[in-house]
Parts: sequence; C-alpha cells; structure tokens
Amino acid sequence: MARINDNYLKLKAGYLFPEIGRRVSRFVQEHPDAKVIRLGIGDVTEPLPPAIIAAMHAAVDEMASRETFRGYGPEQGYDFLREAIAEHAFAARGVEIAADEIFVSDGSKCDTGNILDILGPENRVAITDPVYPVYVDTNVMAGRTGQATEGGRYEGIEYLPITAENGFQPDLPSTRVDLVYLCFPNNPTGAVASREVLKTWVDWAKANQALILFDAAYEAFITDPSIPHSIFEIEGARDCAIEFRSFSKDAGFTGTRCAYTVVPKTVTALTASGEAQALHPLWNRRHTTKFNGVSYIVQRGAAAAFSPEGRTQVRGLVDFYMENARLIREGLSAMGIEVHGGVNAPYVWLKTPNDLSSWDFFDRLLSEAHLVGTPGSGFGAAGEGYFRLSAFNSRANVEEAIARIKNWLG
Ligand code: MLT
Repeated sequence: MARINDNYLKLKAGYLFPEIGRRVSRFVQEHPDAKVIRLGIGDVTEPLPPAIIAAMHAAVDEMASRETFRGYGPEQGYDFLREAIAEHAFAARGVEIAADEIFVSDGSKCDTGNILDILGPENRVAITDPVYPVYVDTNVMAGRTGQATEGGRYEGIEYLPITAENGFQPDLPSTRVDLVYLCFPNNPTGAVASREVLKTWVDWAKANQALILFDAAYEAFITDPSIPHSIFEIEGARDCAIEFRSFSKDAGFTGTRCAYTVVPKTVTALTASGEAQALHPLWNRRHTTKFNGVSYIVQRGAAAAFSPEGRTQVRGLVDFYMENARLIREGLSAMGIEVHGGVNAPYVWLKTPNDLSSWDFFDRLLSEAHLVGTPGSGFGAAGEGYFRLSAFNSRANVEEAIARIKNWLG
C-alpha cells in the first residue's frame, strides 16, 4: 500500500499566509462593503518598470518567429542573465562570483526549500525566532525535526531568539549545529546585520564546518551604505555559505517569478565518510534534473533590470516602497507605538499596543479598521506580541491605513 511522508503530519498549522487569506476572505464575505487594505503578505503592488516590460515585449516577438524562437533553455539560466547578475549584483560591489555559480530559478521560497535535497537528513538546523516560516516547514517536511511542542516549536531545531532585547541579532548557536538560516535584511523584523556581525557568523561556520543559508531577498532595500548586501562581501564566506536572491520585491516579480541562488564552487560539506564534497555539482545535478528553467521572456525581463534605465526604474520602485515604510514607521511612532525595522527593509515590526496577542491584534485590526497585517507569532513563538506591516502597497492605501490606525486607537 502507498505510504505518505508522515513528516507532513507533524506540521502544526497551515502555511501562515493562506491562513491569513482564509480569515480575510471570511471577513470580506461577511462584510462585502468593507474596503479592506492589505499590508500582510509582502506582495508588490506597482507595475513592472517600463524597461522590463519593453524587454519582455521584444522577447515575445522573438518567440513569434521561427528564426528567433526558443524552446528549452539552459536549466541554470541563460548566460545573458547570469553574466548580468555576476557583473551588477556582485562585481559592482567588489564581490567575485562567477556567472556559472549563479542558478536562475522561479523563486527564493522554492530554492530555500529545495536546497535541502542536497543536504543529509542528519544535519542539525538552527533558525532565528521569529523567522520566515518556509525554513522551518521545509525542514519538518524533510524529516529533519521531531514533533511540534506545546509552544509551537519543533524538537530537534535550535531556535535563536531575535528580540528587541538583543537588537534582533541572533546569538551564535549554543549546541552543535550544521546548518543555519540567516535572513538579512530580516523578514519579519526588518533588522540588518553589520559587517562585523556577518564576519562573526562566517568565522563560526568555518570553525564548526557548518553551512550558512543566507537569504538576501531584501538586499535592495538597504539604505545604510555600511551594511553588506551579500554574505559574500565577507572574507571566507565563499567556503561556507549559499545565498538566495530574488527579483520579486525590488523589480516587482512576485507574479512574474524570477530569482537566483549562488552556490560558490568552493563551498563544501562532508560525505558520510567525512570527505569534503563541493555542493556546486550537487545543486547543478538537482537543478538540471528537477527544473527546466525560467521562461526566456521572463529572463529577458529580469536582465533588463540591470540595464541603465532598468536600474534607475528599479531604484525608483524601491524608493517608493521605502517611503511607504517611512510613513508607516513614523506614523505609528507618533501614536506612541513601539516600532522596529522599516529603515533598511520594507517591513515594519511593531509591538502590539495594550499587550494584545498577535492574533487578537490581527482580528481586531481587521474587524475594526479593515486592515490586514501579519501576526508576529505566525513567524515563531518569540514573535508573540508583535505584528508586521508591509510597505508594499500604493501610497494612497498606506496613508489611509495610517489614518485608520490613528482613528482606531483614538
Ligand atoms: C512575506 O510576506 O513574508 C513574503 O512575501 C513571503 C514570500 O516572499 O514568500
């Protein structure tokens, strides 16, 4: 008889964002006239920049003619895109990443989960708490954890709390850990890591033969010039880190889908017999076996994000969302609410007023002010009592949302 992967039954709740979606749909069904504003999931609202649209249109035209039509492309991505990424995202910052160390994909969410395919089940994992839920859930699915505990955590994972008390900077693991997920600028808290902090992590990883899975999906939102955009800006990181990047948030590709993962040829992990094995050929094997590449049209659009006009237009989008973040942060602060983030990241992390639980705050904000955010506890036990507002929305909606919160809190 066919057997299921029993690890799925360990998963506590549904995935966070569909659960929010369900609650919002129910509310909208019961209150069809309510004008609900969504600052929950970090989904962009502004159209793709004109340079990207023009490149996609041209690519569509190429597909219309026998001479320029394309079928399957290289699974790892077209050279024109991998080379543009190597030049503009890395070489321009003094970071040497070869084009063939870049694997183009349809999303960082998928890649952060898929990377587990090439890593053994016995690896012990550390994650921050709160954290982007995909890192936890995919490890549960892969059987790398025990059961869920009362407090909403899983046995077998080392949780590294990030709280206002430690400035949202995780301590190094206190037990033996093989894999650690770091996300900077951080989702959900909006915190960033300095060069010194990242160096501490790289030194720790090298000393402990551990691997850093570095999620840099929000690097474009960094405004402080002293903050690294890539883990590979830190000496030695090429030997102990994999980095995930995305076109979703800065270039507006959440619906279009394009991202990339950087696996340096020098990063290794151990075989069962204790020999160092490069991860690059394993990821290449996985990628070429299970993935057929991002569409040519989308890759042409992504490459246009690096053209001179594209860069200016993408910067304009980022600045637009960061102005929203400033309005949210300063608006809430003026109401006496404790706020974090929103300076180098498109997320504002607030302490719920009157010690409301995260979900109580969510339900009241939805039913009384018709606003959607993300409950901090949905990102982990240490997120309880916090709430995340996303800056991805129109200016009018952000201004309206702040006015509603002000009105609501009286
Ligand atoms: C979020 O809201 O945390 C993100 O949009 C989720 C994602 O990028 O998958």
